[in-house]
Amino acid sequence: TIQPVILSGGSGTRLWPLSREAYPKQFLPLAGELTMLQATWQRVAPIASHGPLVIANEEHRFVAAEQLQQVGAEPAAIILEPVGRNTAPAIAVASLEATRDGADTLLLVLPSDHVITDEAAFRAAVQAAASAAEAGKLVTFGIVPSGPETGYGYIKAAHGQGVRAVERFVEKPDLETATGYVASGQYYWNSGMFLFKASRYLQELERLQPAMLSACRTAWQGARRDADFTRLDKDAFTAVPSDSIDYAVMEKTADAVVVPLDAGWNDVGSWTALRDVSQQDGDGNAHQGDVIAIDCRNTYAYGQRLVAMVGLDDVIVVETDDAVLVGKADRMQEVKTVVAKLKADG
Ligand code: GDD
Ligand code: MG
Repeated sequence: TIQPVILSGGSGTRLWPLSREAYPKQFLPLAGELTMLQATWQRVAPIASHGPLVIANEEHRFVAAEQLQQVGAEPAAIILEPVGRNTAPAIAVASLEATRDGADTLLLVLPSDHVITDEAAFRAAVQAAASAAEAGKLVTFGIVPSGPETGYGYIKAAHGQGVRAVERFVEKPDLETATGYVASGQYYWNSGMFLFKASRYLQELERLQPAMLSACRTAWQGARRDADFTRLDKDAFTAVPSDSIDYAVMEKTADAVVVPLDAGWNDVGSWTALRDVSQQDGDGNAHQGDVIAIDCRNTYAYGQRLVAMVGLDDVIVVETDDAVLVGKADRMQEVKTVVAKLKADG
């Protein structure tokens, strides 16, 4: 039995101006007809034994519920966080929920903002991981790195084939370290998806982060439940220390394994990444909305109104109701500087 847990609490600022705090990227149809949240559910539905356990910010409860309903997902629960405390507490609360009637199940933890083009290969990797997870391992899914990205976790796998022990897990190393890892050929990127028994995660958290677990338990026990939502206790959850599963658990546990994943995975961390995973014409252009491109190469344009481009190379154009972004494709990570400036200027 596989219980998908969908983490839907991120803010996705690098996809400004489309992705906003009020409407982050997981709720947008960035790479096709479905929103990223909907696509996350659809790709896992064929191997799921229950509807998704979704953890989102309180502010996004209606959009999350409506989008799930549109694709026929019947959530096991939609758990609402009054504030974000990063992924380790979110997964702790999901684990408490999944074990609430003394049950235990495999949790498949999924970020809600990734693109996976080969869904069958993704599901096969999850199924290949199931017996290790049943045996108490914390399973990660490793991606062969294409460069020294510093925004990822790095996994050093033991020699061998298939499911392998993790010798070392390093979250977000600096550029020099990441360059060495990639050159060594021994490291995978962490995809940010995990498979483990709910009880096993709680056990590791008890051992590694006891204060976090007990604060999460208080917030979960004090939750208010109605037909649609499970609302964590506000004061108790606000008091939970903030940390990601990567730092809080994966870097420290001795029981991690890695399953290689070759499924066209992309975490769509920038507009350029989105261009690269979108359907492109013969000149490498990818467009969404009403776009005319004449003599353009490797552009990405998103238009709510009509966007026309002439003679552009490697340029990104994003047009929305209240803002327009134009920039070189290889500098799209700097969109977060724009967002920081907007915040600073109030
Ligand atoms: N519910 C909830 N609450 N979800 C959250 C929260 C939170 O407080 N914070 C983040 N999330 C969700 C995000 O929406 C996203 O779907 C997922 O959890 C991962 O969070 P990110 O903030 O995107 O993590 P990251 O990209 O910096 O790093 C993780 O993913 C990389 C791959 O994309 C790590 O697992 C890295 O090791 C990994 O390489
Ligand atoms: Mg991410």
